[in-house]
Amino acid sequence: MADKREKFGGRLAVILAMAGSAIGLGNIWRFPYMVGEHGGAAFVVVYVVATLLISLPVFLAEVMIGRRSHTNSRDAFARLSRQHPFWKGAGYLTILIPTLIACYYSVIGGWSVEYFVKSCSLAFVRMSPGEASAFFGSFASSTWTPVIMHLVFLGITVAVVAGGVKSGIEKFSKISLPVLFVLILVILTYSVSLPGAGEGVRYLLHPDWGELTPRTFAFAMGQSFYSLSLGMGAIITYGSYVSKEENILTTSGGTAVSDLLFAILAGFAIMPAVFAAGIEPGAGPGLIFQSIPYVFAKMGAGLPVVSSVVAILFFLAIIVAAMTSIISLVEVGVSFLVERSGMSRLRACLVLFVICGGFGVLCALSFGPLAGVKIAGMTIFDLFDWVCSNILLLVMALLSIIFVGWILPRRVVRDEFTNGGSLPVNERLFPVVYFLIKWVAPIAVIIIFFTNFML
Ligand code: TRP
Repeated sequence: MADKREKFGGRLAVILAMAGSAIGLGNIWRFPYMVGEHGGAAFVVVYVVATLLISLPVFLAEVMIGRRSHTNSRDAFARLSRQHPFWKGAGYLTILIPTLIACYYSVIGGWSVEYFVKSCSLAFVRMSPGEASAFFGSFASSTWTPVIMHLVFLGITVAVVAGGVKSGIEKFSKISLPVLFVLILVILTYSVSLPGAGEGVRYLLHPDWGELTPRTFAFAMGQSFYSLSLGMGAIITYGSYVSKEENILTTSGGTAVSDLLFAILAGFAIMPAVFAAGIEPGAGPGLIFQSIPYVFAKMGAGLPVVSSVVAILFFLAIIVAAMTSIISLVEVGVSFLVERSGMSRLRACLVLFVICGGFGVLCALSFGPLAGVKIAGMTIFDLFDWVCSNILLLVMALLSIIFVGWILPRRVVRDEFTNGGSLPVNERLFPVVYFLIKWVAPIAVIIIFFTNFML
């Protein structure tokens, strides 16, 4: 029966599927504002190093857990640890985290829907650049539209999950990702040519080491895990579909590098526009929603048709990228409810809609009417994001690396990494990778985890 489990078609299919999960709002929306809030180029340097030295080994560890156990993320630990109670319990975190992320992810999805609708009515192209970037402030702080758009976005997501038209969405995302890639390049080219944009390029290229604080490390690591969909069972699950012949170093490396590249391109598309528009780089979650409309409005003055089309396609591509990611987040909770409690799929989807919709409304309102509600100095939205990205993801990722580095026998890990010794390059690299998984990654994650509480 286990052999009937589906497998990915080949190397490219694996990389595309994993990159599809990885590339989402994390790259386009979250990365640029993290850079802006945490010191510009210094953050980027830490982010790149953390991705290659720590996230990539964690990614490999998760793929190995999945491929070895050949099952879903909750049962993977149980199976490989021979039903050890601690590891059986750990699997539950992989259900909780994606559900919590879905709550606030869909708020941003809702913003994209609103911006898409606005682009279709040619609003940004008609506004002056200043108005276009100021639009965000009045929109996000209003009461009804952000809430309604969040529920619309979540509603579509849940409907798709209920209908199970997953394969359609997968095919769709294969088109939308390349489209998004091209559009980012178009916007990047235009954005760096704006007057005053040079400051933004410099901001990304010249690290000011004085800006480097323990916070920078903590947030860079959190961002890197978030962006690669680590620490929540997604990659474990995908790993279980990877065939035994695949070289996991190539596929994981390919995914990590394309995710990195995408984030950096988004940074170069957005930061120059931020500076050209005179927006504060540390403006927070609204950053791209303030800077990108500015670009469209500027473009619109000279090239109204082109900029309208680019704006519409751009927000559509963001919606699709966000949708393909959030579908897999919601699916985790749904499949759990269906399998564990025998609930019907439709009912499970409704439960998820109520949970994520409810908490999401609080997150959406925390930019407006609930902006004054602060818990530990953070708004509700920031708190959700912080707890997930800087605490829970790190805990779950730590558990995965401890599992591979310390619980699984070294021989099993070696066997997984080298496909039974048949890959000479991996064979040679194994001691380095094993050292990173066993020592470097866990120690780094533990240190960062504690700095989070001592900020
Ligand atoms: N990595 C996705 C992004 O960058 C978001 C995400 C986090 C995700 N964890 C996930 C997507 C798990 C799918 C599954 O936007």
